[in-house]
Amino acid sequence: MGLLRSLSMLLPLLLWIMWMSVVRAQLPVDKERAARSLDALLQDYAYRAFPSVHLRTGKLYDGEPPSNLTGIKISAMRLRSGSLRTRGVSRFKEFEIPTGVAVQPYVERLVLVYHNLGNWSLVYYPLPGYTYLAPVVGLLAYDALNLSATNLPTLDITALDDPISINFSEVKSAPSGYTAKCIWFNLQGLTEFSNVTSNNICSTKKQGHFSIVVEYTAPPSLAPESPPTGGGPNEGPGKRGNGKGKSKVWKIVGSALGGFALLVLLALLVLWVRRYKHRKRMDRMEKAAEAGEALQMASIGNTRAPVAMGTRTQPVLENEYVP
Ligand SMILES: *[C@@H]1O[C@H](CO)[C@@H](O)[C@H](O)[C@H]1NC(C)=O
Ligand SMILES: *[C@@H]1O[C@H](CO)[C@@H](O)[C@H](O)[C@H]1NC(C)=O
Ligand SMILES: *[C@@H]1O[C@H](CO)[C@@H](O)[C@H](O)[C@H]1NC(C)=O
Ligand SMILES: *[C@@H]1O[C@H](CO)[C@@H](O)[C@H](O)[C@H]1NC(C)=O
Ligand SMILES: *[C@@H]1O[C@H](CO)[C@@H](O)[C@H](O)[C@H]1NC(C)=O
Repeated sequence: MGLLRSLSMLLPLLLWIMWMSVVRAQLPVDKERAARSLDALLQDYAYRAFPSVHLRTGKLYDGEPPSNLTGIKISAMRLRSGSLRTRGVSRFKEFEIPTGVAVQPYVERLVLVYHNLGNWSLVYYPLPGYTYLAPVVGLLAYDALNLSATNLPTLDITALDDPISINFSEVKSAPSGYTAKCIWFNLQGLTEFSNVTSNNICSTKKQGHFSIVVEYTAPPSLAPESPPTGGGPNEGPGKRGNGKGKSKVWKIVGSALGGFALLVLLALLVLWVRRYKHRKRMDRMEKAAEAGEALQMASIGNTRAPVAMGTRTQPVLENEYVP
């Protein structure tokens, strides 16, 4: 019974450990939420790029991200949805939007928002087992009705005829023997891979975030040496190394915490088992005393007391544990 009680005391700890593992399993959901809230923040900041007067339709305006997100590039362009459908946009940063792109639900004018996540790509779109060869870029569409609006829902854009193509400009070369792949992160958190076509071009029928990756994890010591081909200083592999280093630090901190929790658990277990054994012994001694057995009894004057008196004077400790 004592052991049972000890086990019931362990229960909260076990529950806590189980809860921690559930939290771990939910991490992708948190990442997804982080990516969507970044989208919302960048929509707000991209809209601020528009001048309050003489806003030109079809002109690309470069925005300024908040200072805590330095390294991200944003741009915005306002368009009539009819014009998007019949004329497309020949150059929207890396994107080439052909004719025949439809917007749903219908809006008269829309804003196309461009993201280049630069060195934040790995932070918002971590991809274990893969290495980014280009920064993650995004193409999102919003209603242009109110240019001071925030938390706008994204519009759905679909290329009905030719796909939208993405011409990545600064792409590192894949390590020899590995094939680069296009990756598409849709706004529901799903990823899809496709082949890179001639010269670093990916294509899509939908909005979302895109990059070129290779299924390869660089050994940490080799990472800074992988040759960047035409890569600007912004996308140096050292930056990627940084992100990896961070995740490594988290892994170490995580396992240290886990190890510590396990140690505490073991220590508590040992403590409880010892206490249980002690109680058992005390019970036995008490029973023996009641039965009048001379079990290591000592006589002090007229009183007979167990020799283990020292331990019997400790109920203070015991009371601490009894709820
Ligand atoms: C960056 O700053 C903006 C505005 O100051 C804030 O809303 C946002 O939560 C911050 N984001 C991060 C990732 O710190
Ligand atoms: C990206 O680079 C900028 C400087 O260009 C820096 O301020 C920022 O902290 C970097 N972000 C990450 C996630 O390393
Ligand atoms: C536009 O959005 C802003 C921010 O949500 C709001 O304060 C403003 O009233 C809106 N304007 C119109 C014309 O709806
Ligand atoms: C892709 O962009 C490069 C310049 O960054 C350009 O030379 C090349 O022609 C483009 N490719 C296509 C298919 O548009
Ligand atoms: C992608 O390329 C591989 C070989 O390079 C080929 O077997 C596969 O069919 C291609 N996939 C698509 C969707 O074109």
